[in-house]
Amino acid sequence: MELRQLHDLFAAELIGADLTAPPSAELTQQVEEAMQRYGVLVIRGADITDAQQKTFSRAFGPLELPSRSPSPQQHGSARAFDPDIFHAGNLGPDGKIVPYASEKAALAKGAERFHTDSSFHSMPTKWSLLRGVLVPPLSAGGDTLFSDARAAWDDLPPEKQREIEGLIGLHDFWEGRRLAGLKGKVTPEMFRIAPFPMVKHPLVRSMPGGRKTLFIGGHCIGIEGMDNPAGLTLVEELYAHATQDKYIYRHKWQPHDLVIWDNRGTMHAATPLTSDEWPRDMRRTTVNESGPETSARRWMDERGFVNPAA
Ligand code: OGA
Ligand code: MN
Repeated sequence: MELRQLHDLFAAELIGADLTAPPSAELTQQVEEAMQRYGVLVIRGADITDAQQKTFSRAFGPLELPSRSPSPQQHGSARAFDPDIFHAGNLGPDGKIVPYASEKAALAKGAERFHTDSSFHSMPTKWSLLRGVLVPPLSAGGDTLFSDARAAWDDLPPEKQREIEGLIGLHDFWEGRRLAGLKGKVTPEMFRIAPFPMVKHPLVRSMPGGRKTLFIGGHCIGIEGMDNPAGLTLVEELYAHATQDKYIYRHKWQPHDLVIWDNRGTMHAATPLTSDEWPRDMRRTTVNESGPETSARRWMDERGFVNPAA
C-alpha cells in the first residue's frame, strides 16, 4: 500500500487497500496512523456494499447511528435506507432527486457551512467515512471541502492561543442551522423530530498523538460564560481563520471514493450542487471513540439532556 499526500498540510490518498474483506490488523493500523497524520484519507475504487462499509468502519470504533432514518414504510417508497447509515447527497427516500431550491433540501444546506459531524452530540465523534455511490460529473458541483483545524491552531499567535485555551464552546444544532441561513425555515415539525439541546465541548482539544486543534464548526454558536454577540464573535473570528484557503483541501468526487475524515481535527463543508440533473448518492458511517452503538438523540435522552424549548 502507498500513501500520496493531497495538500501541503494534510489529506492523503491511500492506494491499494481492499475494503471488500474485513480489514486485517495491519490495514487497520495503517489507516489509524495515516489518519493521525493526515486527518483526511481518500480511498478510491471502494466499490463496496453498505454492509462492507459498516464492517470496515467498525474496525475503528462503534458506529454512531442516525437519530432518525427514513424507513420505506414512513415514506411509502420501495427504497430502504440502511438505518445505520447517514445519507448525504440529494436523493429522497423514494430515490428521486430532491430539487436544490426546494423546502425539503433546506435543512441539508446547513452542511454548506464548515462543521464537524455531530458536534451537537454530548459525545463527540471520532471519524466519518463517506462513500460516493452516485456522484455528479467533476465540474457540476458537489465537491466537499476540508479544513485542517490542527494547522489553524498551530498558526494562531501564542497570545491568542493563551486567551482561548481552556474556553468551552457551546454547540447547538438548531442555532447552528439558523446561522447557516435557515432562519425562519426551521419548522416546529423539524424541531420536534430532533430537539437537540445545547452541549459543551472544549474549544481547544488534544488529539491522540498530542496535536491540538480548534474544535469549532457550524454547530458552535458561543462560548460558555460569554454573552452573545461577544462569544459568537470570537467563534466567528476563529472560524474565519480556520477556513482560509491555505487550510483547505477540495475533494472532487469520483464514483466509489471513500473519504474518511477526523471530526476532531478537521472541519468540512458541502459545496452546492444547484443543478437537479445529477443524482448524488452519498452514504456516511460515523464512528465514536468508544461507547455503545446508539444515536445522539437516544444517548442524550437517556442521560437527561433536555432542550428547554422542546
Ligand atoms: C456529511 C457531509 C458533505 C457532502 O456527510 O457529513 O457533510 O459534500 N457531507 O456531502
Ligand atoms: Mn458533515
